Amino acid sequence: MNGVVLEARGIQFTRGRREILNIERFSLAEGETIALIGPNGAGKSTLLQIMALLLKPDRGVVEFRGTPANRANALAFRRRMAVVFQEPLLLNTTVFHNVAAGLKLRGISGPQIKKRVNYWLERLGILDLAGRRAHHLSGGEAQRVSLARAFALEPEVLFLDEPFSALDFPTRLTLLHDLGRLLQDTGVATVFVTHDFAEVPYLTDRVAVLKDGRLFKTGTFEEVFKMKPRKETYLTSLYRVFED
Ligand SMILES: Nc1ncnc2c1ncn2[C@@H]1O[C@H](COP(=O)(O)OP(=O)(O)OP(=O)(O)O)[C@@H](O)[C@H]1O
Ligand SMILES: [Mg+2]
Repeated sequence: MNGVVLEARGIQFTRGRREILNIERFSLAEGETIALIGPNGAGKSTLLQIMALLLKPDRGVVEFRGTPANRANALAFRRRMAVVFQEPLLLNTTVFHNVAAGLKLRGISGPQIKKRVNYWLERLGILDLAGRRAHHLSGGEAQRVSLARAFALEPEVLFLDEPFSALDFPTRLTLLHDLGRLLQDTGVATVFVTHDFAEVPYLTDRVAVLKDGRLFKTGTFEEVFKMKPRKETYLTSLYRVFED
């Protein structure tokens, strides 16, 4: 059994009279990717932000490698995690500087930064975009930059909140393939949020289903959905029209 990297226990989050989250226990082990899925408004982003220590729950605890997060250690823990959101949130500068920015904040030396940024741009297939201004990129290119930026931080935990849901289907598919390979190669513990069940088999076999703020089901894809995971969808076939 792999060690637990992150664990949330007894999480309650209420706004007004509404209970938005009520989670007994949610944990992420070393090297695993969990797909956190559920319909709009289920509480996925709220849970992700609580786990990423960006939002404080009303009750409950988040432990990072066995140490409960508190006001004194949260910043240090956050620096060991990276988050990618649905909207790329890129700075109005070059692609290179967008990926380098977080490394500078962490006090890494210039030559090291250059090496790491170029490595991750290459791994994401966007080295040729290094000098381009981020605000002029397409949606797919911008999300590649966001991923490069997150991986360049070499985080111990990676959070991805519906990173591809604004992209067209072929772009999404290529990114899912590429991300799947990166997650396998790096083995970084990852929470991938999506409302699209079809995305899950590209990345992982571990599924947690959130519904009305509660963990409704967790297990392997087959345990949860009572069917084998499949990557091919009829949409894949339709998009072959571009290959003619
Ligand atoms: N700060 C807040 N104040 C009031 N309500 C909130 C707040 N944050 C979240 N909510 C509500 O909590 C519920 C869960 O929101 P959340 O964004 O976590 O859902 P989600 O599963 O990520 O949905 P989506 O798929 O649309 O991104 C929603 O009904 C939302 O309106
Ligand atoms: Mg959300």
